[in-house]
Amino acid sequence: MTLRDKIIYILESRKGEFISGQEMADSVNVSRSAVAKCVSQLKNDGYLIKSVNNLGHSLDMECDIISEYGIRAYLGEDQDMEIKTFKTIDSTNSEAKRAISSGSTSEGIFAADHQTEGRGRRGKSFYSPEKSGLYFTMVLHPQTGIADATGITAAAAVATVEVIRQETKKDPKIKWVNDIFIENKKVCGILTEAIADFESDRVEAVIVGIGINLTTDHFPAELENIAGNAGKMNRCKIAALIFRKLKEYCDALPKREFMEKYRKYSLVLGKEITFIRNGINYSATAENILDDGSLEVVTDRGERMVLSSGEISIKPK
Ligand code: BTN
Repeated sequence: MTLRDKIIYILESRKGEFISGQEMADSVNVSRSAVAKCVSQLKNDGYLIKSVNNLGHSLDMECDIISEYGIRAYLGEDQDMEIKTFKTIDSTNSEAKRAISSGSTSEGIFAADHQTEGRGRRGKSFYSPEKSGLYFTMVLHPQTGIADATGITAAAAVATVEVIRQETKKDPKIKWVNDIFIENKKVCGILTEAIADFESDRVEAVIVGIGINLTTDHFPAELENIAGNAGKMNRCKIAALIFRKLKEYCDALPKREFMEKYRKYSLVLGKEITFIRNGINYSATAENILDDGSLEVVTDRGERMVLSSGEISIKPK
């Protein structure tokens, strides 16, 4: 851990607060002038730090630079994971997979300011413009069989909703399977991938990629009427808080207690929906979401069906 990392960690942990140069120097065991030099370097790199005589240094609440130690500042005691941050990357999910292929066995967070080839579900791309969103991937190694591990997708949606709710006071909802909407606009998508061994029913790694539009307000034409934003949030903090919550849910995956919350935050339950199955168009009412994540519907013709995946649309009122 470099001096720079230590100073970022201190400033981010006590964001908005003045910390004296002497206190920082004592806690990292260097001279005050070494701290001052490092703070001035951080300012040059774009960190919004106020320095006031007799008060010390304070990281502005508006400063929102993604960094490893910025994220670590919100992780609490569990720091035992790999964290990599990027200004630009093709896709944080792809980067996580590359790390696993080159032998990484630890848990991880891979976060970026911008993705050039952000990936969505069903081979779609995910619009990931610079600075206005958070694009990150968490790597977990759940000690469960494949069936239990599939619950991580729903757990990630619940964790994300809870953190956005806490940080924005807005009312995000989950549109089955795992898109997050605020006021009927998609503000977040989740792409879960896994590396598993079917023969031994073991999951080597689960790769959970989350893209949140924070302040993005211009979208490509095809997304204009669908996509919205969640509002400004501290990106290091939300990445860390979502990771912590997801870990908590993963520690008790087979119990699926988070499914109660998934149903509570559902945008679709009780609604009229449409979907296509085997080339047939259906209209139905969304009745229930089962603990395995599947959606139970009753069609207009009175037929009960259980959907385990796929796209649905909510009928406009
Ligand atoms: C979807 O809406 O279809 C899922 C979108 C998932 C996007 C995130 S952004 C971070 C991670 N990296 C990717 O390439 N995709 C996921």
